[in-house]
Amino acid sequence: MAINIGDKIPDSSLRQKTSDGINPVTTNELFSGKKVVLFAVPGAFTPGCSVKHLPGYVKHSESIKDKGVDVIVCMAVNDPHVMEAWGRDQNVGDKVMMLADGSAEFSKELGLDQDLNKAGMGVRSKRFAMIVDDSTVTELLVDEPGQINLSTAENILEKL
Ligand code: BEZ
Repeated sequence: MAINIGDKIPDSSLRQKTSDGINPVTTNELFSGKKVVLFAVPGAFTPGCSVKHLPGYVKHSESIKDKGVDVIVCMAVNDPHVMEAWGRDQNVGDKVMMLADGSAEFSKELGLDQDLNKAGMGVRSKRFAMIVDDSTVTELLVDEPGQINLSTAENILEKL
């Protein structure tokens, strides 16, 4: 069953590539005591994700953070090298934290994974966005496959 509003984020671990190398980022350190917007995409560098989804969060990052959000996270089932390269390509700077869920473990724990084997992409994350307050989900917006409507930065801004 998928995670829902009011649920706690499960214990898990993601990965981040920085100038120090590749480091684990536990969900405890990411969400505990903070207000976080996490959005997930089916794949780094895919057209909708690169043209609309991630750029929207980069553009609106200041407005989102002005509403009390400590961290904006972009997550995908890709490896940390790809996530870092995508962030560099999109000039995210420190506006958006680019995290890898390489084996889809966290996406599966959330119940927000999807089977994209027919597209040659294996198991990926659904496209979604959530607002998490001190590890509790307070808003959850999951898009239908192929759509970028609910989980946009503009929509998240309205919910904050
Ligand atoms: C989607 O938006 O659902 C999607 C994007 C890229 C590849 C596969 C699916």
